[in-house]
Amino acid sequence: MNVINLSEQNSVLNMYLREIRDVNIQKDSLRFRQNIERIGEVMAIEVSKALSYEQTDVQTPLGIAKVHTISDSIVLATILRAGLPLYQGMLRIFDHAENAFLSAFRRVNAKGELEIVAEYMAAPSIEGKTLIIADPMLATGMSMEAACISLGKHGNAHHIHICCTIATPQAIDYLREAFHDDPKVTVWCAAIDPVLNEKKYIVPGLGDAGDLCFGDKL
Ligand code: URA
Repeated sequence: MNVINLSEQNSVLNMYLREIRDVNIQKDSLRFRQNIERIGEVMAIEVSKALSYEQTDVQTPLGIAKVHTISDSIVLATILRAGLPLYQGMLRIFDHAENAFLSAFRRVNAKGELEIVAEYMAAPSIEGKTLIIADPMLATGMSMEAACISLGKHGNAHHIHICCTIATPQAIDYLREAFHDDPKVTVWCAAIDPVLNEKKYIVPGLGDAGDLCFGDKL
């Protein structure tokens, strides 16, 4: 499993990341969503560099031009609801992608353990396709694993790109084990933060991405 932390290289991505972390700028939920969308756009362009390409001919008014175009069949997936702005930004770049939506939420079970409940999925076949999953906060890796298990019922992807804004070393280790360090899985993130708090929020992180995008829930 390959891990690519995009903030290791300086780019405008770091400005968007700074703004989504800033407790004062976060109060503007429109700006928060737009910054996550912009991170999705930048990340999609980076992911596009890792895809396969083929030479195609295009008829211009004056002749034939040769262009390298993406040959992968892309399925772009997200986990409701926090994943929507990151997904939307990526969809603006991969506008020909097929789309998949899943739900996953955390709850504490009767034994006091954290568990993930995945209830809803609307997805095409992913057999032989390039699966890109957008979810902003890779805290424990458990929701992402649950999403991959659900999507796996629709076939075996040719490659899985897991795209998030902030990841933790714990989530990366968890997914590395869950995927048996499969080289056909790549984690892309804009930052890796060191720890989780007792409620499994990333620290320093940014808070609750879903609430910051869409408001508080009961
Ligand atoms: N989900 C969030 O929205 N924030 C975290 O820090 C962890 C999971």
